Amino acid sequence: MDLSETSIKLAHFSDLHLAGRQDSRGFERLDRLLTAIVNTGSNHIVITGDLFNSTDPSDWVTIKEVLQKKGLYSWDKVTIIPGNHDLINLEEEMRIYNSLNPDTNGRKKRFRRKINEFCHMFRELITGEGETSGFPYIKVINFGEVSISFVVVNTAYPWANIDNPLGARGQVSMGELEALFDPEVKKALQGSFVVGVFHHAFRIYETDALIDQAFDWTMELKNREELLNAMLHLNAGIVLHGHFHRFQTYMIGGMRFFNGGSFSCNPRRYSEISIESDGRYAQRFVDI
Ligand SMILES: [Fe+2]
Ligand SMILES: [Fe+2]
Repeated sequence: MDLSETSIKLAHFSDLHLAGRQDSRGFERLDRLLTAIVNTGSNHIVITGDLFNSTDPSDWVTIKEVLQKKGLYSWDKVTIIPGNHDLINLEEEMRIYNSLNPDTNGRKKRFRRKINEFCHMFRELITGEGETSGFPYIKVINFGEVSISFVVVNTAYPWANIDNPLGARGQVSMGELEALFDPEVKKALQGSFVVGVFHHAFRIYETDALIDQAFDWTMELKNREELLNAMLHLNAGIVLHGHFHRFQTYMIGGMRFFNGGSFSCNPRRYSEISIESDGRYAQRFVDI
């Protein structure tokens, strides 16, 4: 790319919910979307989780292969995270749940193992060096005159009978939050345009209707205020997420959020964000 470039383009989409590696229609649509994104000269693609309706790594590998085939499988070209659907097998959790012996530790262990599997599968997109690392992580990428930093956080957390009955509620662990407040992190981000990346939505319906409130509860990000504080602390310019299947943009607490909506609802739409070297940015939803 031209080193004198003074603006870059991010492409963001989310919630593919592919049925599995045999979902040929879904993969055709994905190929079409990626081709369109590449053709517009996007510098980096962010995919914010819920790739599959399965937690099977042999499904995940097909996404890796698609990206490899298109020459996109590299650290500076793509950022990809898991959503709750990639990490929690709801059926299995409900089947083995025993109210007399809730086995919280076993559940946490299974969840942790899934995250590790995901990070291992996509390790070249996380560290760029083939080493496996976990959340949160940071990528500082210099595109000519524009420096972009991604602060990538996991917001999915284990299924629980009472507290997380659909596995769709989110929570950022204390460990991750602490890591984000490490002074070294802020130092590493200096002079760069900071983009927060995670799966869960800050805003869901937020209406007064009880039915909406009940729905909000099942998929809300529990400690969103703390995550917002971390993002404000790190001077994030924008935050990208998915989970709530709507293409939307909104402000909360002075922070601009972009919901990459849902590929599963509209595979011909993505969010494009242009960022200038002086930190100005513009966003639009693009229909291909
Ligand atoms: Fe989703
Ligand atoms: Fe989700």
